[in-house]
Amino acid sequence: MGDGLLGTGPRGVFRRTLPPLEETGQPRMAKVLGLGQLTLIGVGAIIGAGIFSLAGAVARDVAGPAVLISFLIAGAASVCAAFAYAEFAGMVPRAGSSYTYASAVLGEVVGWIIGWDLLLEYTAIVAAVSIGMSGYVGFLVERMGIDLPVWMMGAPGTGEGHRVDLVAMLICLGVAWLLNRGTRTSARVDVVLTVVKIAVVLLVIVVGLTQVDSANLEPFAPFGFGGAVAGAATVFFAVFGYDALSTAAEESKQAQRHLPKAMLLSLGICMVLYALACIVLTGMVHYTQVDPARGFSAAFESVGLGGVGTVIAIGAVLGIVTVSFSFMMGASRLWYAMSRDGLMPRWFGALHPRRQVPHRATWIIGGVAAVLAGLLPVREAAELTNIGVLFAFVLVCVAVVVMRYRRPDLPRGFRCPGMPVIPLLGVGFSVWLMTFLKAETWWRFGLWLLIGLVVYIAYSYRATRKVVPGGSVDLGILGR
Ligand code: ALA
Repeated sequence: MGDGLLGTGPRGVFRRTLPPLEETGQPRMAKVLGLGQLTLIGVGAIIGAGIFSLAGAVARDVAGPAVLISFLIAGAASVCAAFAYAEFAGMVPRAGSSYTYASAVLGEVVGWIIGWDLLLEYTAIVAAVSIGMSGYVGFLVERMGIDLPVWMMGAPGTGEGHRVDLVAMLICLGVAWLLNRGTRTSARVDVVLTVVKIAVVLLVIVVGLTQVDSANLEPFAPFGFGGAVAGAATVFFAVFGYDALSTAAEESKQAQRHLPKAMLLSLGICMVLYALACIVLTGMVHYTQVDPARGFSAAFESVGLGGVGTVIAIGAVLGIVTVSFSFMMGASRLWYAMSRDGLMPRWFGALHPRRQVPHRATWIIGGVAAVLAGLLPVREAAELTNIGVLFAFVLVCVAVVVMRYRRPDLPRGFRCPGMPVIPLLGVGFSVWLMTFLKAETWWRFGLWLLIGLVVYIAYSYRATRKVVPGGSVDLGILGR
């Protein structure tokens, strides 16, 4: 390794840095969260537009009733990665997620790539979930008998006369505004909204199962197995979010024991709910008739249960907003952390003098998310997210194997079983799913990484050495 440019010394791009703890100016939080609450937070971050919007869009256009198989394949990929995340969460119980893990384990340049990747990914998540919410807002507005102009009802290409999804844009800007006022959905509000969301999914399942007509489930896989796998690459959007749990690490009573369990439990619960909800959706209406923007509400309306459809729409909007909040907050805090570590100019991460929030970063993220949300169909916004998340999954799965062999001695609150097969399966699954994403998604992602590389070479490499001098840290301090 040595002190060359490709080494781990002070000059090397692979020096292993451990960014200091985030100082967001918020008071230090009490360690109050137990396993139950952590699991609920995980479920809150996982269930969102993926099931409420993408399941319908994928069933109609790509997979048919085999969207169930799409969810199971995506879930299998996510479970492998969840084991890897869980081992890290039990080893590095601090906020920062994969950016922190990668900087400390695989080196600065890999940390940079993940951080840069996550910035795009989190922004695209905010866009995608806002589009999802907008579909259900549209349903509610129609039920109230209000006629909105068609041009503002969706992105170009999503319906006749659609020019822009204005509601989705306003949601992105609204969330940015709230966050910049220092609004944090407190753990308690999050819990309430998550319970509402779970209740709505249970309502869908319990009432919906009584309305299933098995004739609708035929043919089960009209687009073949290929359709189900292509669908998995899109609905993958639905099966992550537990990685956001690491942000609760510093509020957890026993982070090293509870975080890993909460990650796996929350994913498991969501997978069961998803599987049943998919059967309901494609069993209630023939896949060719599924409404891609407000699938569940429209399905209930079509069987004469419009009132249930309304309750679902309200629950979906309230429930999905928590996802939007957590990821926009995640993106702005990541931007803040990267500026603090010298990887980005300080200007972006500066805190608002009174409200102590990274206001510039939040507005930029809100603005970019609004443009994406206004102009992209939900599937494209979701795929832009997925390519980034899958890429981060690959790096985290590799990192967990590297760590196990490099530092087997470090204390771990949780050990990924089946080492190294499970993380390597995670790598394989993720790469496989990435190959099913559209060429445009690859181009957009490639361009973003290229810009990132130019920024790193032209700015970050030098700037970060002024802020965080020295060579690699001893990995032994990770667990402290
Ligand atoms: N898994 C989250 C969702 O489906 C991002 O909205």
